[in-house]
Order: sequence, then structure tokens, then C-alpha cells
Amino acid sequence: MYRDPVESLEPLHHRHAAIRTLRVGMIGIGTVGSGTFRVLARNRADIAARAGRSIELVMVAARNLERAAGIVGDSVALTADAMHVATHPDVDVVVEVAGGTGPARDWVLAAIAHGKHVVTANKALLAVHGAEIFAAAREKGVIVAYEGAVAVSIPIIKALREGLAANRIEWVAGIINGTTNFILSKMRDEGLDFAAALAQAQALGYAEADPSFDIEGIDAAHKLTLLAANAFGMPLRFADAQVEGITALQGVDVACAEQLGYRIKLLGVARRQAAGVELRVQPVLVPAAHLMAQVNGSMNAVMVKSDAAGLTMYYGAGAGSEQTASAVIADLVDVARLDGVHAAQHVPHLGVHAHATNALAVLPRAAVHTSHYLRVPVHALDQIQAIAAGLAERKVPVHQVALAAERPGVGPQVLVLTGPVEQGALDLAVHALQARAEVAGPVTTLRVESLEG
Ligand code: HSE
Repeated sequence: MYRDPVESLEPLHHRHAAIRTLRVGMIGIGTVGSGTFRVLARNRADIAARAGRSIELVMVAARNLERAAGIVGDSVALTADAMHVATHPDVDVVVEVAGGTGPARDWVLAAIAHGKHVVTANKALLAVHGAEIFAAAREKGVIVAYEGAVAVSIPIIKALREGLAANRIEWVAGIINGTTNFILSKMRDEGLDFAAALAQAQALGYAEADPSFDIEGIDAAHKLTLLAANAFGMPLRFADAQVEGITALQGVDVACAEQLGYRIKLLGVARRQAAGVELRVQPVLVPAAHLMAQVNGSMNAVMVKSDAAGLTMYYGAGAGSEQTASAVIADLVDVARLDGVHAAQHVPHLGVHAHATNALAVLPRAAVHTSHYLRVPVHALDQIQAIAAGLAERKVPVHQVALAAERPGVGPQVLVLTGPVEQGALDLAVHALQARAEVAGPVTTLRVESLEG
């Protein structure tokens, strides 16, 4: 028989005095914060039923109090002082959704020092200062949860730490930035130029406050750092990630990739190799028929290859107000359940738990082994064989050679798909190719990912 979840909690409160409302203090009430307020209010009863107790927003810190009052009304105490929320005795858990890596670090560390759990969607903060934050949290026995930091609506952190807990993870790869995927989709499908597509992404609230984080691949690298630490138990190694965005990507390569049966996507890849972990974000070619190539607009998708479950794939909105709120509140439900439980039973803190692969370093770029796409401008159409021979001489396996379809204003181009080859060897071969008389301009190279096995 259905019982109203909130009503049904009341007798529980009387029976177990320890089970009481989880009191939330929130820092920031922008895109994510306002979504969190709305969803918490709208689904209050269901959330309480799932958490086993009520979750109530009691305090909000905002820069613009008038605007904040317009969102939360008079149901919540407002302050302009984020530190007040981080340290207030009436707050059990601090939700940090203000962003940035400066003051946010101080607020989160202060909250932890005051024995409060923390929920954050701030991937930059955790990728850069995570080691310090998780170490402090372990020391105090509090939880730091961050589902909203990665591929917002997709519960990928939960999938890695719970659903796939039995597995040895071999690789994780995904489209983990909504803004760049939105831009690439708009450019390809509607012929929009880069600036117009970015402006739309900003208007929809997908882009970071500083959109260069999105288009330069930095935001995706923050998220990849968190995924890799979860997947492999390695420390947070954002500084070692190889990061390339979409600003240098040329329309001609998007078209040439299509001609060869591929689509270009900004992909984050973390792959375990014998000598270390690949940790890289860059635009890559994926087969056009692959599910990953069908992920368009601001949607995200993450694939995980693990030894027992095999290949799994997760798909959902990668940005947005309530989409991120969904993850933030899921973390609050976890905190509600685990608050008061012995810290040894909490989710282990990232990068600070002992793990056999902790010593794994990030592989240098030159050691990354993948297939590649090359676009080689040539002087004449009959130079196709000379290009293939030049690469073969340098021990680059050539799998396919083609001439690019003619395009107005673009000279003849030879397109090459290679077999797997180390980046270092490929760089040397491209350097040599570049010096050949047949080559009429800079050679463009992009990695190719099969995303199989
Ligand atoms: N700017 C981010 C994106 C927001 O576009 O994916 C969600 O993390």
C-alpha cells in the first residue's frame, strides 16, 4: 500500500531521535544552485523517501542577494558570506556550486574542518585541489561527493564505484563536455560557424563562466581526471593530462573524416597500459556507425571497458541546470544515508586510498599508441602513392589512402588512415613527410579511436 513518504517518516523520527532532517547550506545560486533548489522543492517527498530522512535547504550564500531572494523566496536564510554557510553549526552538509578554484577551495576546506560533508559539482576544484581536499576529508571522516562534476545527468561515478565495483577497469572514454559537443553538432548539422554555435551554448547555460575551459578541452580534462582516479585508483593527475580542444579543428577535416566514414568528436580517454595510464582529451575520429558518433548536441556519453562486465555505455545530458541538480541531489541522498555511519564504510576518498595501481604514472604523449588520420596537401593528384610510400618507409602502417573530394578553394589533399602506431614514431614520420617536395602545406593529424575491446 502506498504511504506518503514524508508522513511515513514522522513516526520514524519519534522512534529514532538520531534520524533527523539533513540540513543543507548552499554556496552559489546560479544555473546549478537554482536548479537544485527547484528540484529539491518539487520532489521533496520522493527524495525524503529515498534518503530515509528529509533534506532541507536551510541557508544559501549568494553574491546578489536580491536575485537570490527572487529564486528562494523567504523560505531560506540568505547571506552574502559563503564562509558563514561553510562554518555554520546549523548546516550538516555544504553544497558548493559557485565554481572556481580560488575561494571555493577555502570554503570547502573550512566546511571539512568544521566536520561537514561536502557535495560539489566543481570539477575544476577537485581536479586541481582534490588531493588536498580528499586528504582533509579523510582526516575528518566526512564525505566529499561530486557526481555532478562529471557528465552531469549520467550517474557515471556511481556506475564506476558501485555498479562496476567487481571489475578491473581497462579504459574509460567519453564525450564529457556538452558545450563542445553542441558546437561540433551545430557546425556539422546546421553549418553554423564556431562563434555562433558557442554563443548559443552560452545562452543555454552549458558553457563555463570562462568558455575557453570548454573549447580548449580543459573542462573535459578535469572530468577525465576524476574518472581515471575512480577507474584505476590512481591519484588525481590533471597536470599530466594531454589536452587539446576544438579551436584548431578545421572544417575541411570534419568533411574529410565524413568522407572516410568517421565523425570527429572531442573525446576524453583514460586507458590503462602496462607502462602507465593514457590520460588525454582531443578531437578524434570515431567510426560514423559507432554509438559514440550518434551522441549529438549537449549530450554526453561514457564507455567503460572492464574485465567482467565487458563494454558498457552510459548516455545523458552533459550540461544544464536541473540535469546537474539531479546529480547534486543524488549525492545529498547518499550523504543522508551515510551521515552518522562509521567513516570506514563511506565511499573511499579519491586518490588517498591505498591501491595497487596508485603508482601508475601518466604515459607521455609520445608513448600513446593509436591509429591516425592524416590530411596531406599535395601539388598534384598523382602524388598519392609517393605519400603512402613516404609513410611506409618510416614504418607507419598505412591502412587506407584516398584523395579528398574536391572543395572550392582547397587544393588537392591526400587522406591517410594508419594502423596503430606510437605517437613518437608518427611525429617523426610526419616531420619527414613535411619535408618532401610533393607536400604543399602543413600536414594535419588526428587520432582515430575504434572504441572496441
Ligand atoms: N561547461 C560544461 C559542459 C558544463 O559544457 O559540459 C557541465 O559540466
